[in-house]
Amino acid sequence: MNQDDLKRAVAVAAIEYVPFDCIVGVGTGSTANFFIDELAKIRHKIRGAVASSEASAKRLKGHGIEVLSLNDAGDLQVYVDGADEITRHLHMIKGGGGALTREKIVAAASRKFICLCDESKLVDVLGKFPLPIEVIPMARSSVARQLVLLGGQPALREGYTTDNGNLILDVHGLQIMNPVELESTLDHIAGVVTNGLFARRGADVLLLGTSAGVKTMTV
Ligand code: 5RP
Repeated sequence: MNQDDLKRAVAVAAIEYVPFDCIVGVGTGSTANFFIDELAKIRHKIRGAVASSEASAKRLKGHGIEVLSLNDAGDLQVYVDGADEITRHLHMIKGGGGALTREKIVAAASRKFICLCDESKLVDVLGKFPLPIEVIPMARSSVARQLVLLGGQPALREGYTTDNGNLILDVHGLQIMNPVELESTLDHIAGVVTNGLFARRGADVLLLGTSAGVKTMTV
């Protein structure tokens, strides 16, 4: 099985977590895309979706799934998304696709977060994957200096603007032993919109694609 097969397998398994007649929170990225394609097969059983990015909204609409704004939808029963890294405590690094801010907002408004990963994403310590941080453009350099003081090596994601009109700094060289604490610390830097640690509100369920099948993990 290749990585795409594993992603497809967890996307198929995630459909079990979608309640009848609900509005589904939908993440961003290649794994989320597989989920959207599976969701299309049961579109008559759901009321619609709230998307965490313009790209996911476009794919959902392309499948004839109604896309609602979070303001109109209210709180959601379930949010389904991938991650760049995840631990056994279901703390994550997200934002490789740059959609971290809307992902964190939709996840926060959802009762359950179902995370879909292939087995390469499961780690003991977060940080090998550079931590994405969305920043207000005028704060790019000042935020970068603060990140260096915290022990990271920030790199501007060249030629990239988020759906919210901001920049991304990818922070290399972190070994994140306490993701809950670091998530709060980073949120307190002036000019940071969102950081890619999803630890204070981690996932509730991890569907992990392995060569031996889909494993379900909870905390
Ligand atoms: C996008 C994300 C994605 O969930 C994360 O990057 C994983 O992507 P993929 O499923 O393509 O590996 O956080 O902002």
